[in-house]
Amino acid sequence: MISMKGKQVLLGVTGGIAAYKAAFLARELMRAGAAVTTVLTESAGKFITPLTFESLTERPCRTDDDMFGGLSGETHISLARDKDLLVIAPATATTIASLALGTASNLLTATVLASRCPIVLCPAMHTQMWESVPVRRNIDLLMQDPRYVVVPPDEGDLASGDHGPGRLPDASRIVAHCLAALTPRTLAGKTVVVTAGPTREQIDPVRCITNPSSGRMGFFLAESARRRGADVRLILGPCDISPDFGGPGGTFTVTRVQTTTEMLEAVREAINGADALLMSAAPADERPVRRASGKIRKEDFETSIEIEPNPDILATLSASTAGMVVLAFAAETSVSEDMARAKMKRKGADLLFANPAGDGKGFGDVRNGGTLVAADLAEVLTIEDESKESLAEILVDAVVDAMNRKAGR
Ligand code: CTP
Repeated sequence: MISMKGKQVLLGVTGGIAAYKAAFLARELMRAGAAVTTVLTESAGKFITPLTFESLTERPCRTDDDMFGGLSGETHISLARDKDLLVIAPATATTIASLALGTASNLLTATVLASRCPIVLCPAMHTQMWESVPVRRNIDLLMQDPRYVVVPPDEGDLASGDHGPGRLPDASRIVAHCLAALTPRTLAGKTVVVTAGPTREQIDPVRCITNPSSGRMGFFLAESARRRGADVRLILGPCDISPDFGGPGGTFTVTRVQTTTEMLEAVREAINGADALLMSAAPADERPVRRASGKIRKEDFETSIEIEPNPDILATLSASTAGMVVLAFAAETSVSEDMARAKMKRKGADLLFANPAGDGKGFGDVRNGGTLVAADLAEVLTIEDESKESLAEILVDAVVDAMNRKAGR
């Protein structure tokens, strides 16, 4: 989990039965790297205590006593001042109404008024209340303010025993919205094609030529680009990833392929009108000349399998990708700048990230570092070992910079 490192988040908890779930949310925000300060309304304090949040966040939890008790330096103004994000979860009908009216009747609503940062609002209440005219009107009003991101409640069993929309969503979904709210939309209006995973060339129905690529790198690249507002077209080889992107951002489509030839055709179609191609897939370079229709018995197995080369996707499409930014990858047993630059040129790419692979490195859920080169820059970026999620952020930053350079900005 990444991206909220160093961010100052204010978690506002209001008085509904879902208030206890805010404790899980506080923990998830901390896990994402945020520094979390909690503010409880008076009625939230009837469901959960400040001590719960103080224990989880290692910071004081603020209540209306701090506002009306005259504690110096801890007013709504100082609470609002350094925040990067406000999250209100759960948000009751009363708090939503106060926010829509712009009242400053308690520490939380006063802090909201005094703040300038994005606000992620997570309403949770009984379906009847959620669907009532005043609540709908207040939500519509708040959504006119671009600072607000409203996370709609989940449908499910409610505390009353009824069933319907009104439940506070899972902490992970709320955090996804928080990440998106904190991410500048540097790729809004852009289309980004991402390839991920291996390809598979069948020898017979039960054996194949493939490699251990997990698809994780491409998944995180796709999610990072989408969160920045790009419309993402993900082309996925056979792997266990089931892309399920949370939070706001651009649109997303996935095309599943098996072979390198299928991937070539899918990329050819997807790059139509695209602005960038992030080629993190590890397509098999060879395929068997013949594919047996039935399982080959061991006594019938030849001592060698005749193979032929697969098309090189980047090289084949280089004329069509000339106007876009292309990021290529090279997983190598030995990495050098010369090798990276030579391969980048051979592939017609603008950027190439070369990383060590094999012996437990490179593939799967591992940290990854390496060398990033750009065709139009003499300097090299050496990236220390990072989670693939963090690495994806660095690489997408580099793609955005390259797009700006290409556009002459
Ligand atoms: N790639 C491609 N088509 C292929 C194989 C690879 O477009 N058939 C892309 C990969 O997605 C990657 C880049 O080319 O972005 C480099 O992949 P790599 O396997 O290192 O390239 P090869 O040309 O196969 O290099 P080598 O000769 O070193 O194996």
